[in-house]
Amino acid sequence: YHRPVEFSEAEYPQTEYERRQQFWDPIRLSLFTLVIAAIIGIAIGIVTHFVVEDDRSFYYLASFKVTNIKYKENYGVKSSREFIERSHQIERMMSRIFRRSSGVGRFVTSHVIRLSPDKQGLSVLMVLTFRYPATDSTEQIRKKIERIFYQNLKIKQLPLTINKPSFSLTAIDGKKMRNLLNSRCGIRMTSSNMPLPAFSSTERIVQGRETAMEGEWPWQASLQLLGAGHQCGASLISNTWLLTAAHCFRKNKDPSQWIATFGTTITPPAVKRSVGKIIVHENYHRETNENDIALAQLTTRVEFSNIVQRVCLPDPSTNLPPKTSVFVTGFGSIVDDGPTQNKLRQAQVEIISTDVCNRKDVYDGLITPGMLCAGFMEGKVDACKGDSGGPLVYDNHDIWYIVGIVSWGQSCALPKKPGVYTKVTKYRDWITSKTGI
Ligand code: ARG
Repeated sequence: YHRPVEFSEAEYPQTEYERRQQFWDPIRLSLFTLVIAAIIGIAIGIVTHFVVEDDRSFYYLASFKVTNIKYKENYGVKSSREFIERSHQIERMMSRIFRRSSGVGRFVTSHVIRLSPDKQGLSVLMVLTFRYPATDSTEQIRKKIERIFYQNLKIKQLPLTINKPSFSLTAIDGKKMRNLLNSRCGIRMTSSNMPLPAFSSTERIVQGRETAMEGEWPWQASLQLLGAGHQCGASLISNTWLLTAAHCFRKNKDPSQWIATFGTTITPPAVKRSVGKIIVHENYHRETNENDIALAQLTTRVEFSNIVQRVCLPDPSTNLPPKTSVFVTGFGSIVDDGPTQNKLRQAQVEIISTDVCNRKDVYDGLITPGMLCAGFMEGKVDACKGDSGGPLVYDNHDIWYIVGIVSWGQSCALPKKPGVYTKVTKYRDWITSKTGI
């Protein structure tokens, strides 16, 4: 019996009831899902906003003309005092322009690449680094930076007169930025190219040394004797030359027996090279530790990167006053006669005057003009065995200079027995005579 168009009266409400049930369930479900999704979304958003910093570095090449400065011949020589002083002045001026006005932590750093002559005076080329949310567009930020720059040229009293229309800003990528900065020494970058603070309060001071972060001391090398492992530290001063201590080669001067590694750990090393040439200072005296300086040349050059960079050599006239804060780094032991550390460590120490260091109760006249004392009179923080040959560096506006080479000391971190370092300025000309650097 077939009745296609007729519905019985008893059937109708039942169908309506079923329909209603089918109708409401998906809505309730989707509403519920939506609310849950919204809660999760907001939670993720909050966590990302406060915990995960999704900022990234943006690099810009800035060029402009300075009209109240005349070009000097030595501006063409990057290691000259004239270039260094003028570029530091320009870099200081840039941080004055950008530091407060562009928001917290937006401006990171600036580095002069080139100073060249110009009809109006001086033409400046520099790299500026900023941190902005990764989602911002390069062009948006470029406009923002330009606006801040123009505004501050008007409001702030600056020592240099910048010709406003000559100012131009071009976005560059990380690779281009590194290539440009490679023309300069003593620059450190982490893997994110974020310059690191010189001293963070979370660092724990152990007997002398503290753990270093990746890319923080990119000129640090480990000199290893085949079959015997790490012997000494060294500092990269060019693509092929390492500066170290003469006493490191007391046992063995045969370059074929030595290798150099780079990176923050000895094992595994980031970069490894064989040594082709060793030059020990001709007047090194093991009894007095005088002229404790040597050079080692790598058989093949190293390419500069985030992890490997060269340190700047100081001008011979540089003289750091007592109490100047400097850093010593190395893979040496953390207690007297302890083992080599696989991870690079650092310590902040202070320059101690030679007069104080030569006092009868300190080193009683053992400090000669080619030496430098650094540490603390109360002891506690110092270099130690295995740090020899490594760098004592000084930070001048984010450019790092090697001022000392770890040389000797009575035990480690004892009161009134600070570390003694080879005074690099005294040997600046010797280094040039051997390497041309
Ligand atoms: N001569 C030691 C070495 O061969 C390093 C001496 C440094 N000592 C010090 N207390 N600062 O590794």
